[in-house]
Amino acid sequence: MTDLNTIKASIISSIRPSDEERNRLKTLAERIIERINSIGKAENIDVNGILVGSSARGTWISGEHDLDIFIMFPPDTQRQFLEEKGLYIARKIAAEGESFEERYAEHPYIHAVIDGFEVDLVPAFNVESAGEIKSAVDRTPFHNKYVISRIKGLKDDVLLLKQFQKGIGVYGSELKTHGFSGYLVELLVIHYGSFEKVLEAACDWKFGLVIDIEKHGTIVHKDPIVVIDPTDPGRNVAAALSLDNMCIFMDKACDFLKNFDESYFHPKIPQPLRDTDYENIIRARETCLIAVEFDAPDEVEDVLYPQLYKLEESCHEMLERYDFRVYNSGVWAKEKAVVLYELESANLPNVKKHTGPVVGTKEHASAFKSKYETTNKFSNVYIRNGKYVVEIPRKYSNARKLVESEILKCSLGKHIGVSMRKKFIVMENLEIMNIRDEEFRRFLRRFFDK
Ligand code: UTP
Ligand code: MN
Ligand code: MN
Repeated sequence: MTDLNTIKASIISSIRPSDEERNRLKTLAERIIERINSIGKAENIDVNGILVGSSARGTWISGEHDLDIFIMFPPDTQRQFLEEKGLYIARKIAAEGESFEERYAEHPYIHAVIDGFEVDLVPAFNVESAGEIKSAVDRTPFHNKYVISRIKGLKDDVLLLKQFQKGIGVYGSELKTHGFSGYLVELLVIHYGSFEKVLEAACDWKFGLVIDIEKHGTIVHKDPIVVIDPTDPGRNVAAALSLDNMCIFMDKACDFLKNFDESYFHPKIPQPLRDTDYENIIRARETCLIAVEFDAPDEVEDVLYPQLYKLEESCHEMLERYDFRVYNSGVWAKEKAVVLYELESANLPNVKKHTGPVVGTKEHASAFKSKYETTNKFSNVYIRNGKYVVEIPRKYSNARKLVESEILKCSLGKHIGVSMRKKFIVMENLEIMNIRDEEFRRFLRRFFDK
């Protein structure tokens, strides 16, 4: 077992931004803020630019190059005015960089690449307190002030915890990941006092844990872990964290404390799964794989992934409703989107046992009997355990047929619905090897290896 301090020193030296990187970032941020203010002045729009997020707090991981710059409008500004003028200013600045795109999650903003940095230009309302926000992003400047006032001496701990969570795959509050946000990491370090203390505590976490640093929480939340926002008593900062990501973190924290190892800090990139490995795996497992493929709608991940997960879940429910047992499922997207299911079996017998009403419930009984008595080829209506039962032909004895015929009736998000109604294809077992994309093959490796 390597000494913890040695590991920490080695990781820190690779993730702590150098003075050179700090200066480059600061210079660029100042230049962009200067542009916001001067465009505002020239066009008579009352705005001011501010730097927020991890780059403002000195808690970004070296090489991440993510700048969060807010364009602040007076709190009484009309929303439409803010969106119009905010995006106008943002576009103007972004057009001076390498590339940009407009992103609409809950709130419109511009994501640009300027001098090699990823820059988010976000219009927001300059409200008095985080309790009065008009848009979810309005909390951010308050987070900034809070963290800056408490984070002194703890920045390396924040970096270590972020990198640890990246290594085990639970960092990032995007709707694709449902992991820990940067702000949540900062609050955990502030609350517990150091990287090790967070891990020690997490190893002992129980569901329903509430951390309320400012002791001002007003609402009971139902999430697996609750971290009351020090700047907004009604908000759980950990609301986006999934139960499984929380548990992975707890589990890895315990393991790491028993056996320190640098490998925890390095994300594992799975090898692409080759055709022969795939064939061997499904032959050995004796399960059946079904993949649904369609063009991925051209939307940001925060829009696309919730729709993919919704499709994954509703098609899963449909498979189970028709008696196909799902062992595993997953989603993948690039230009194409794929929803993948591993089934216990893709085939069921033609006959299906169908249980009807309890004997003695007169109208129900006669309706059931008249429906099945004459038309049915497998059995008469008979009685078992006090209920009418009949054996009828199964509507779908093959899972692929079921999915091909019925998937458009599943609950489809807006954009995925449009794409799937144009075209989708269903593949089974070896046909799935027609998807040759290396990233998909890595996803497949992880699908089996977990
Ligand atoms: P970022 O996603 O850029 O996070 O959001 P970050 O804190 O800068 O961390 P990294 O280092 O880039 O990963 C910028 C700010 O937006 C708010 C936070 O205040 C955050 O610092 N935010 C973002 C949230 O409150 N919740 C979120 O889920 C995401
Ligand atoms: Mn950031
Ligand atoms: Mn950002």
